[in-house]
Amino acid sequence: ERPDALPFDLAGRRVLISAGGTREPLDPVRFLGNRSSGKQGFALARAATHRGADVTLVAGTATGLEAPSGVERVDITTAEQLSTEITTRAADADVVIMAAAVADFRPVHVATAKIKKEPGADATPTPIELATNPDILRGLVAARSAGDVAADTVIVGFAAETGDERGGVLDHGREKLARKGCDLLVVNAVGDGKAFGTDDNTGWVLASTGAETALPLGSKTLMASRILDAVTALLSGRRT
Ligand code: CTP
Ligand code: CA
Repeated sequence: ERPDALPFDLAGRRVLISAGGTREPLDPVRFLGNRSSGKQGFALARAATHRGADVTLVAGTATGLEAPSGVERVDITTAEQLSTEITTRAADADVVIMAAAVADFRPVHVATAKIKKEPGADATPTPIELATNPDILRGLVAARSAGDVAADTVIVGFAAETGDERGGVLDHGREKLARKGCDLLVVNAVGDGKAFGTDDNTGWVLASTGAETALPLGSKTLMASRILDAVTALLSGRRT
């Protein structure tokens, strides 16, 4: 059921959303993963479809979550698979939202049989050699500059940040927005049980124009509609 109060401002727009975490296999029973629940990306998919968009949701681990009806769902496991799905579909999208938690690195060697420890109580662990995964978000921005993605496609990134000795959450967010080159960056404060797996999120939407909108503490559903408000504001400035 579509809530009555929602604007129908994404009618006819094609929105591509990634959600959940990637898993990078080590052997048939083990992987490197992260704590993403997929809830924010799924909430975005639901809100966008309610606002009239034609939504494709590329989902990694998102335990127990069902795609909203009417949404095309594509399941992936690894960052490389996610990269392939997003890159090939972005050419047809008006909006791409990278809400997925993408593993930065993957094991270089994936064992075909279960890795066994050496016999004996003090078995020495073998270090895991890692390779860097493609940066999908930066790749989208580069593809847009190259003309492979339409110039008016809106590209949205996410950043889950903790403050550290180099700066606060917002400082890291501003730096990341500049580095990624996307149009909007949704910055969430994490740590102390914030964001991961919870139903509530807090943060900011930073725009490449310099506009910064605080997201009031609220449900991921409310966050999703605030994020889509920022997206539709950009879309209406670009094309109707
Ligand atoms: N992202 C991506 N491809 C990657 C890593 C991240 O597309 N290989 C996207 C995420 O989906 C997110 C945004 O980039 O929308 C920011 O992710 P984040 O992990 O915060 O950025 P990194 O550049 O990996 O920075 P960090 O060193 O803080 O992990
Ligand atoms: Ca990262």
